[in-house]
Amino acid sequence: MNDSYLNFVNSPLGARVARSLGLPKPEVLRRYRADAPEFDGIAAVGAGPAPQLLDALAGVIAHLGITSVAHASAGLWVPLANRHGLMTGRFEPTDPAAGSQARVKALVFDASGIDNSAQLDTLYAFFHDALRSLDKSGRIVVLGRPPESSTNPRQWAAQRALEGVTRSLGKEARRGIAANLIYVAPGGEGGIESTLRFFLSPRSAYVSGQVVRIGAAHPAFAADFDWTQPLAGQRAVVTGAARGIGAAIANVLAAQGAHVIGVDIPSATDALDATMRQLGGTALALDIAAPETPAQLAAALDELGVDVVVHNAGVTKDKTIAKMTEAAWRTVIDINLSAQERIDDALLEAGTLRDGGRIVCVSSISGIAGNLGQTNYAASKAGVIGRVQGMAPFLAARRITINAVAPGFIETQMTAKMPLALREAGRRMNSMSQGGQPADVAQTIAWLAHPGSAGVTGQIVRVCGQSLIGA
Ligand SMILES: NC(=O)c1ccc[n+]([C@@H]2O[C@H](COP(=O)([O-])OP(=O)(O)OC[C@H]3O[C@@H](n4cnc5c(N)ncnc54)[C@H](O)[C@@H]3O)[C@@H](O)[C@H]2O)c1
Repeated sequence: MNDSYLNFVNSPLGARVARSLGLPKPEVLRRYRADAPEFDGIAAVGAGPAPQLLDALAGVIAHLGITSVAHASAGLWVPLANRHGLMTGRFEPTDPAAGSQARVKALVFDASGIDNSAQLDTLYAFFHDALRSLDKSGRIVVLGRPPESSTNPRQWAAQRALEGVTRSLGKEARRGIAANLIYVAPGGEGGIESTLRFFLSPRSAYVSGQVVRIGAAHPAFAADFDWTQPLAGQRAVVTGAARGIGAAIANVLAAQGAHVIGVDIPSATDALDATMRQLGGTALALDIAAPETPAQLAAALDELGVDVVVHNAGVTKDKTIAKMTEAAWRTVIDINLSAQERIDDALLEAGTLRDGGRIVCVSSISGIAGNLGQTNYAASKAGVIGRVQGMAPFLAARRITINAVAPGFIETQMTAKMPLALREAGRRMNSMSQGGQPADVAQTIAWLAHPGSAGVTGQIVRVCGQSLIGA
């Protein structure tokens, strides 16, 4: 759906009106486009004491082909960057008084060695100097160690403090800048590329204020691995693929090389067929909640198996609980939660979902924060979060990951139907002051489905522009 306020304040006249009235001016976010370079510009690198991830970072930056500059805090960066063949120089802060332009696309800070609160000063020094130099739609990535891997409480506190810094940076930076924190478990250093790429890329335009953990599982890639087609040769099932977010997921997974099997209810067959035809996928008209569907789906996929399962289909039947019918309660829990459980059971039992596969579920910020009139929906979406957390350890033995995305306000037919005041509130109450696009959710799912994301499991990643709701 069209955000006419965003379009207006980004026109020459609208920008003048917004400035004179002091109105917020949401940025037109830089999103991924196949015809524009995904990575360009300069990344400024800073570090706390004894950084442990700079080497892995240098490897990724070299791979992305971007230039780096070293902040004074990142003493080790220059020799490392030289070793990895990166062009590097010293970071020179932009002087706003001199009117010079912001010129850095990303700020990356390695905080992995910080082990007491006094050392947090290094974050202050870096971001105090560097934040003004960050371009519109720029990226902030802070790298740390999971607090729970700390050897003492002071280290735990200092690593946990990174969440507060990063989330606040996301709220302060504005101008379409996203700030995220990646905790890399000891042993996970070799598995950071898919995640770092995502958070430095325009693909993560609407993901901010998130904390992601990378475990020790290591993907091994051949030197000629094609990062533009990471899902080449894979098969992906997407439920609710006829329209909205599901159609966007199908499109992005197909663009990354997957053969997509789109599932939707029989009454949506025409739309499903059209979507699948356009991306060369296969349409399967099935109601995910029907008792026979899990077996039918497993049988349809059985011969070739499947690598990625995306549980996207979902419905709302909103009413306050006093007015809600039992049928409305049951239908929503059954479609949004129980059907996913039955389908995964069938695909896992039959071995249809291959070892090393990926399950990605679509939750919602309603499942995190609750929402008026949505006891059924919020229960189902919170249940999805529990399912992800509960299943991840059991699936690890088969190297299958399971994660969820929790979208905030996404511009779809569903949100277009909301009353105007609620819709405007939903759109603006986030650090980006705008709604997300279905592609923002789809790109996040593609990162979780990536073969390189083997160390990312049991996680809930919000795609909400850092919504204030449930923050
Ligand atoms: N739009 C948002 O702002 C938003 C926010 C948070 C979460 N979500 C979630 O994202 C997912 C997609 O939402 P959307 O906005 O694209 O919704 P949508 O209504 O546009 O699309 C949902 C699709 O799922 C299909 N579907 C519904 N019941 C089904 C069933 N029993 N079997 C098979 N297919 C079924 C529908 O036919 C439809 O094609 C849902 O799980 C929704 O709860 C959306």
